[in-house]
Amino acid sequence: MRIVTSIGEMRDTVRERRGAGQLVGLVPTMGFFHAGHVSLMQAAREDCAFVVVSLFVNPTQFGPGEDLAEYPRDLDRDVEMAEAAGVDCIFHPEAREMYPERFLAYVEVKEAGEVLCGASRHGHFRGVATVVAKLFNIIPAHRAYFGLKDAQQVWVIRRMVRDLDFDVEVVACPTVREEDGLAMSSRNIYLKPEERKAATVLYRSLRLAGDLVAGGERHAARVLEEMNALIAGEPLVRTEYVEAVDWETLGPAGMLRGEVLIALAARVGKARLIDNILLDVPA
Ligand code: PAF
Repeated sequence: MRIVTSIGEMRDTVRERRGAGQLVGLVPTMGFFHAGHVSLMQAAREDCAFVVVSLFVNPTQFGPGEDLAEYPRDLDRDVEMAEAAGVDCIFHPEAREMYPERFLAYVEVKEAGEVLCGASRHGHFRGVATVVAKLFNIIPAHRAYFGLKDAQQVWVIRRMVRDLDFDVEVVACPTVREEDGLAMSSRNIYLKPEERKAATVLYRSLRLAGDLVAGGERHAARVLEEMNALIAGEPLVRTEYVEAVDWETLGPAGMLRGEVLIALAARVGKARLIDNILLDVPA
């Protein structure tokens, strides 16, 4: 497995592979791999002849006071895990390679970047869209793989690809969970044992939402109320939002019908955790 740090070398490598008729897959990451990342690498490995994983902790998607400095990093372990997953190449640039002095051009996916997580993480999705646009230009892959744990991110990237005519297929892969349901996240490392236990209420609340909808409930407000009541029973968990939105538009869903995203964000100790479920609700 090769580790490439320069944009020029990375682009030439991918162009060569494409020129040889190979299908190229990209898995964008910020490193500190867990089973969720590995599942994306495996999906790419199954589909593509050449698999690139980008590993870059992107400063522009962190706001002031967020965890950029302490974001967990372990390059040696990541390299081992990527190699074991059959990855062909890691793109691991320095920040100054990605953001040269007087960097001025950003990509913004307007309203959708300002709801749900975007409502409190101002500029976060602008940073994500910008770095992913750059990665799509540096690594002109046929397919790019993202996890649905970050459903809003998937939405924003799909819309960027559609609106700006990027020639890449965005493949959304299912959330990978711990045995007790907690969604895998690099930030789970911040949780103390009692917080780790309390955090399981997040997925339990999403399952409750799924059960209520399966039982015929169609009023979003009632579902969200029950979820909030369940989460409120865990004093270590402070919700930032619990919302139901239309998966087509990311607009609020009053009545639940069609493809609906039920999403939440919560603070548990030092960690800000997100999770969601996508429901296909019959009318
Ligand atoms: O999901 C992530 O790890 C990041 O947001 C991404 C897509 C790699 C962009 O930095």
